[in-house]
Amino acid sequence: MGTHFNIAVIPGDGIGKEVIPEGLKVLQAAAGKHGISMEFTHFDWSCETYHSTGKMMPDDGLEQLSKFDAIFLGAVGFPGVPDHISLWGLLLPIRRAFNQYVNLRPVRLFEGLQSPLANKQPGDIDFYVVRENVEGEYSAIGGIQYEGTEDEVVSQQSIFTRKGTDRILKYAFELARSRDKKHLSSATKSNGLFHSMPYWDSRVAAMAKDYPDLKVDQFHIDIFTANLVRMPEFYDVIVGSNLFGDILSDLGPACTGTIAIAPSANINPEKTFPSMFEPVHGSAPDIAGQNIANPIGTIWAAAMMMQHLGSQAMHDTIMSAVEAAIRDRLSLTRDMGGTASTQELGQAVTDLILAQ
Ligand code: NAI
Ligand code: MG
Repeated sequence: MGTHFNIAVIPGDGIGKEVIPEGLKVLQAAAGKHGISMEFTHFDWSCETYHSTGKMMPDDGLEQLSKFDAIFLGAVGFPGVPDHISLWGLLLPIRRAFNQYVNLRPVRLFEGLQSPLANKQPGDIDFYVVRENVEGEYSAIGGIQYEGTEDEVVSQQSIFTRKGTDRILKYAFELARSRDKKHLSSATKSNGLFHSMPYWDSRVAAMAKDYPDLKVDQFHIDIFTANLVRMPEFYDVIVGSNLFGDILSDLGPACTGTIAIAPSANINPEKTFPSMFEPVHGSAPDIAGQNIANPIGTIWAAAMMMQHLGSQAMHDTIMSAVEAAIRDRLSLTRDMGGTASTQELGQAVTDLILAQ
């Protein structure tokens, strides 16, 4: 019997519903090449569902998802439903319940794309952002008191556990060790955040002792953002807390020409639970329905999903087609300076896979 994967598909809102079909088309083509069978089960959980049911997903949503090998997600969020409702009603519960504590976001300047930074060539920008994905600054602990009065007080608690800090650092150190540059950079802000970031720095220093083969450094998040623009070629593996990792992983892809090509893998490294793969971008209400969304971030996320599931060959097949389509500027969408539609670009990548 050949390999078979059961994938839960949540297209979500806006352009999520336009880019996911292109990801599925590419997956089917690559799976066919490698004798792998894939079954896709669709879930219409979204802000639209929220409007009719008052919930982003059903009460047993997590239980339903737990049976799949992986989750393939478009984007959630749409005007009319506050972003903290859509995020805390779907994405964050999935990340947390399935202990997807690694958010892995590769950043690469492709041949054929123009970086907005002067004189950057392919190879100059090639790094990973490893973002802590389940604790840190994104917590629901805190509250508001004397609401609506002049005495209003709001507090928002950050949570850093030793377990949570060490396991994300370990993942990042191991990734850095696997790379040629063997260079790990940690994002901090220990001059402003009195407790959490000095703690984070101390765990980095402790772990660095076990990795004498790596070059390890750290930067405050403010100068980090400046450096990423000034000298992106310096970086190799970047590790950051939930908030800092989130910021750096939008800034990184922006330096490669368009955030629309960037993928995001929410990984449970122990594989106890399904992991979730999505583009970095959101539902882009400003261009939804126009069929001009770039599907590359979603297609790259699909490739990362196959790598996580153990099919490096499928990953490589998909990525060499993506690289070729961009290099030869076949059917590129508007954000990459072309005129093609979402489907035309998805089809160009699919055709390249079928021709391999
Ligand atoms: P966004 O990523 O949706 O859009 C930012 C800008 O990039 C827009 O001008 C958009 O047109 C453009 N863009 C994004 N993806 C593109 C693509 N594939 N092709 C071409 N252009 C693209 O971020 P924004 O506007 O901050 O958020 C919109 C909604 O998406 C909000 O409701 C937000 O909460 C949600 N969101 C959801 C995420 C998720 O589901 N993981 C992640 C980020 C935002
Ligand atoms: Mg973000």
